[in-house]
Formats: sequence, structure tokens, C-alpha cells
Amino acid sequence: MNSSIFEDSKNVFLDSVDARDYIQLDRVSTIYQSLKDSVKKPLKMILLFGKPGTGKSMFLTKLYHDLSPSQKVFIYQTPILDEGEFFKSLARDMFNVKYQGELNFTQFMLIVEQKMQEEAEIPLVLLDEAQLYSSQQMEKIRLLSDTRSVKFVITLHKTEKEDLIAKEHFQTRIWETIELENASNTELKIYIQKKLMKANCFDSANMFSQKHVNQIYKLTKGNYRDTNKLLYTLFDIYAWYSENNQSKLKTNVISKKIVEMSAIHTGLLND
Ligand SMILES: Nc1ncnc2c1ncn2[C@@H]1O[C@H](COP(=O)(O)OP(=O)(O)OP(=O)(O)O)[C@@H](O)[C@H]1O
Ligand SMILES: [Mg+2]
Repeated sequence: MNSSIFEDSKNVFLDSVDARDYIQLDRVSTIYQSLKDSVKKPLKMILLFGKPGTGKSMFLTKLYHDLSPSQKVFIYQTPILDEGEFFKSLARDMFNVKYQGELNFTQFMLIVEQKMQEEAEIPLVLLDEAQLYSSQQMEKIRLLSDTRSVKFVITLHKTEKEDLIAKEHFQTRIWETIELENASNTELKIYIQKKLMKANCFDSANMFSQKHVNQIYKLTKGNYRDTNKLLYTLFDIYAWYSENNQSKLKTNVISKKIVEMSAIHTGLLND
């Protein structure tokens, strides 16, 4: 194999969130379907919950991609932490109101009240990284959802601190919580192979047996982001060897040693 296939394989594992790169895995697809179902229910807010790197942003982006041809949906991938700017953006997106100057929450709620009678459908607003909003801003988002003039899907990191935020804000008022988790052993194999095959890297996909995936699973616990990092580095090393030291390279199976080297390099394993 020449180095370009390893370059291509490497780029498969760049950490990027693009709906076109979405991989269907049984459990993931079931959860995604329940998210889609929840969006159709008369809920005020849906909380997408999970540890970093479990695919929350990917879900949100995919949801946006799937729904936007048929309904009013807006995505905020990066939180707008300035409240005035946030409400201005919402007014612009949801009601096409371009507001000059300052816009505070009270004024914004007046716009909402006025406009919601005119609107035929309730817009859906997707807020990623919601743990970054202050509790005051979050409270306003909640008040807004109570008017039922907008429906929210928000994602939250699952860490101890955010567990607390989630409890304070949402426990009594939810609605619906959907939790994402790391991949299992078998899912991880499918994830890796499907990702490579989608990019026509069939030879690299065939290098992974369940045994190799188990080694990777031990290092990443099935976390998608950690797996991406590890495999990006792994193929980077393969690309280097195939350029500079062909004779040392076995290309029919993944080398345990190179997995280890990559794990040390990415900090998943201490040397
Ligand atoms: N279903 C999927 N199909 C394809 N790739 C995925 C899928 N889920 C996750 N990934 C990959 O895993 C990476 C991490 O996922 P993502 O960024 O969505 O995690 P996250 O839960 O939003 O993490 P954080 O809490 O840190 O924001 C993505 O860049 C993407 O490459
Ligand atoms: Mg994210």
C-alpha cells in the first residue's frame, strides 16, 4: 500500500462534526429515532445528555440537517453568551425581526407574544454546549420555552458540575432527557470500519479485526472522540512508515505496537 491510502485514512478520523459523516450504529440509530420522535411531541424542551465525545454535537447537526428541509429549525453550535445578542439572534431567526440597538429579555418577550399568534408552526431551536450558558440565561431560556412559542433541544456535557446544573434546572420541568453513551466493543468495530469504508479506504478497514478493536476499546472505552484521536495518530504513523521505512511495515493487520505508540502520543496511555 502506498502512503496516500494512509493519508486518506488519517483524515477520516479528523475530529469534525458534519452530518454527512454520520455513521449508523444500531443503538445510536435507535436513540436518534427517539430524539426525532420527541421533537414531534408537544414538549417544551428536550435535553441531550452525555459525556464529552459521545456524539451530542453530531446528533444535533444531523437533526438540523434532517429537519431543515421540512420545518423551521435553527442551530446555535456555539453559545451566544451575551444575552442581548442571544435574544436578538432568536428574534431574527424565529420571527425575522431585525432589532436595532439593545434588546433586553422583557422587550424580547413582548416580541414573542406579539409574533407567536402570527406563526403557523412552533420553531425548533437547537442549542449545543448549553453548559456554557449562565444559570440566569438558562432560566430565561426556560421561561421562553414555557410560552410554547419555541421548542428547544439542548445538549449538556455530563460532568459532576453539569449534573448539578441539570438537576437544578431541569429535574422538575423536563420534558424529555436523552442520554448518549460511548460505543460498545462491537459498535466500535463497526464505527471504525464504516467510517473508513465511507471514504473508500477498504484496505485499511480490513486491517481491523475484533482483537485489534478490543485493544483500542481498552484505551478509549469506546469514546468516539478519543477513538478519532487515536486512529488519526495511528494512520499518521502508518503514513510516515510507508514513506520512509516501507520494509518495516506490515499492512494486512494493524500493529499492536503502533496502536500503543499512538496511545502514548495522544495521552491515552502513559509510557
Ligand atoms: N454517529 C456518529 N457518526 C459518525 N461520527 C460520530 C458519531 N458520533 C460521534 N462521532 C464522531 O465523534 C466525534 C465526537 O462527537 P461529538 O463532537 O458529537 O461529541 P460531543 O458529545 O458533542 O462532545 P462534547 O461534549 O465535548 O461537545 C465527532 O467529531 C465525530 O467525528
Ligand atoms: Mg459537542
